[in-house]
Amino acid sequence: MKNKSFFIVIDGIDGAGTTTHSSLLAGYLEGEGLSIHLTQEPSNSEIGVLLRKFLKDKKIPPCTDALLFAADRSLHYYNEIKSKLDEGFIIISDRYIESSIVYQSVQSDEISIEWVKEINKFAVEPDLTIILDINPKVSLARKTQENLEKFEDTTFLDKVRELYLKRAEQKGYYVVNSDEIIEIVQEKIQKIVTDKILE
Ligand code: TMP
Repeated sequence: MKNKSFFIVIDGIDGAGTTTHSSLLAGYLEGEGLSIHLTQEPSNSEIGVLLRKFLKDKKIPPCTDALLFAADRSLHYYNEIKSKLDEGFIIISDRYIESSIVYQSVQSDEISIEWVKEINKFAVEPDLTIILDINPKVSLARKTQENLEKFEDTTFLDKVRELYLKRAEQKGYYVVNSDEIIEIVQEKIQKIVTDKILE
């Protein structure tokens, strides 16, 4: 396959497998001879590290989360994503702005989708967004109860899932059912991506 810069985001609810599938996709595309840069949000910046800590803390106000995710994204975009795209890499990001739009607006009635978009307006739209979909009851059953983060709650994730699906329909994102075995899900993702890259 021939390389050209391209920005792919794999997003979806907790436990849908965004990290596993981003990494498998990166391995597959590298095997095809393409230059891949795999990354994730929260990023590895100091803000990203703080956000990981806050994911365990229910006392953090939702607007603080929203502003920090946007700050982390601005660093991530300008210092990493943009420069790698300029160098001709294919970026695969495990989560991006769609995570903020969905999670932070579901977190609080005081947070509108419009406001989340506004504070993230510097971040360019990906070329391709794939939403992994799974029933939260299934995804959370795979996790140990002691290590759960603050968003890993079935009632909350039901609302998050509903909004991901609604936005996917509005925005024309690809939705892949992640309830099947990993190989099948990955094969579907690879097909979507290769078709798009070859377009
Ligand atoms: P993960 O890396 O295990 O998917 O966890 C990241 C968590 O952070 C997940 O619960 C989704 C949440 N999150 C937001 O709420 N907003 C965001 O903008 C991002 C990137 C993640």
